[in-house]
Amino acid sequence: MKALMLPNGDQVPALGLGTWKSKPGQVYEAVKEAIKVGYRHIDCAPIYGNENEVGNAIKDCLQEGMVKRSDLWITSKLWNNAHAREDVMPALKKTLSDLQLDYLDLFLIHWPISFKKDSIMAQSASDLLSMSELPHEHTWEGMEQCVKEGLTRYIGVSNFGIKNLQHLLSKATIVPIMNQVEAHPYFQQKELLDFCQSHKIHLTAYSPLGSIDRSSALKAENEPILLEDPLIEKIAQAHQVTPAQVLISWALQRDTVVIPKSVNPARIKQNFEASMLILTAEDMQAMEQIDKGFRYVNGSFFVFEGGPYSVEDIWA
Ligand code: A2P
Repeated sequence: MKALMLPNGDQVPALGLGTWKSKPGQVYEAVKEAIKVGYRHIDCAPIYGNENEVGNAIKDCLQEGMVKRSDLWITSKLWNNAHAREDVMPALKKTLSDLQLDYLDLFLIHWPISFKKDSIMAQSASDLLSMSELPHEHTWEGMEQCVKEGLTRYIGVSNFGIKNLQHLLSKATIVPIMNQVEAHPYFQQKELLDFCQSHKIHLTAYSPLGSIDRSSALKAENEPILLEDPLIEKIAQAHQVTPAQVLISWALQRDTVVIPKSVNPARIKQNFEASMLILTAEDMQAMEQIDKGFRYVNGSFFVFEGGPYSVEDIWA
C-alpha cells in the first residue's frame, strides 16, 4: 500500500476508508471489512454521528489480532462548535472515548468557521462566530496542546484555502501536516495542491467519487455525475477496471491521500484494489482536461443572511 512521507520520515497510508454518510448499523461491518482487506487508514469525525460504532469495529479488530494499533492511521476532526482554545482538548477526549482509543494519528480542524458552543448545526447567523471573534490561531493553540499531551500524533486542517492556510502558518508553532479538502477530476484543486506541496502539507481528497449519497438538501440541481463521466468510463474500459478505481488511482498518482467511502464489502475491496491500477501519462493528461471547477460540497449551508461568512470567505 502506497504511503506518503511526512517531513519527519513518518508515513501516512495513502488510501483510507471514508466514513462520512456511513450509517450506524452499517459502518461497523464496513470498518471491519476494510481492515480485513488491508486498509490501514480510517477517516472519522464526530459530526458523522458514527464514531462509537467505528470505535467498536476498531476495538474488535485489535482484540481479534487482525491488526496492531501502531499499524493503523486514525484521523478525526474538531467540530465547529468547539473552536475556543479551552474546548479543543475536551472535544478530542470525547472522540477518543467514542473511538475507544488512547490517541489519534491525526486531528483536523474540520472547517475554517466557528459556531457558538451550544450549536451543533448552525441554523441562522446568530449561531455563528466570526473569524475576528474566534481567530483560527486560538483554536490552533488548543490543537497544539493536544499534541503536547500525547492525545494526537499530528494535527492539521480541513476545508482550508490558501489564505486561511497562510494565516495559520504565520501563527503555528506546530505546523499542520494535512489539509483535507474536496478533490476529484471535476474539482482538481491544482493551485491549492501546489501550495500545500510547497509547504510540505499533504492533501487528502474527500468526495473522490462524487459523493452521490449526500442528502438531497446538500445537492445542486442537475449535478454532473462523476462516476458516469464518459472519459472516466473510457479509461476504465481500457484498463478493464471500474470508474471508481480510475478515480481512486488518479488521486493516488497525484500524491494525495484519498478516502473513498463505502459500506458495501465488494466495493470496499474493489476500491482498495485500485491502488494496483497504474494510469498512463496520457490518461492523467486527458483527465486534467475535465476539470469543471465544480464542488459537490459547496459550503453554502454555512452562509446565512447577516452572518459573518460568505462562500468566498469559507474557501479563502
Ligand atoms: P456504497 O457505500 O453503497 O458503496 P464518496 O467517497 O465520493 O463520498 O462517494 C461515496 C459514494 O460512492 C457512496 O454512494 C458509495 O456507495 C459509492 N461507492 C463507493 N465505492 C464505489 C464503487 N467502487 N463503485 C460505485 N460506487 C461506489
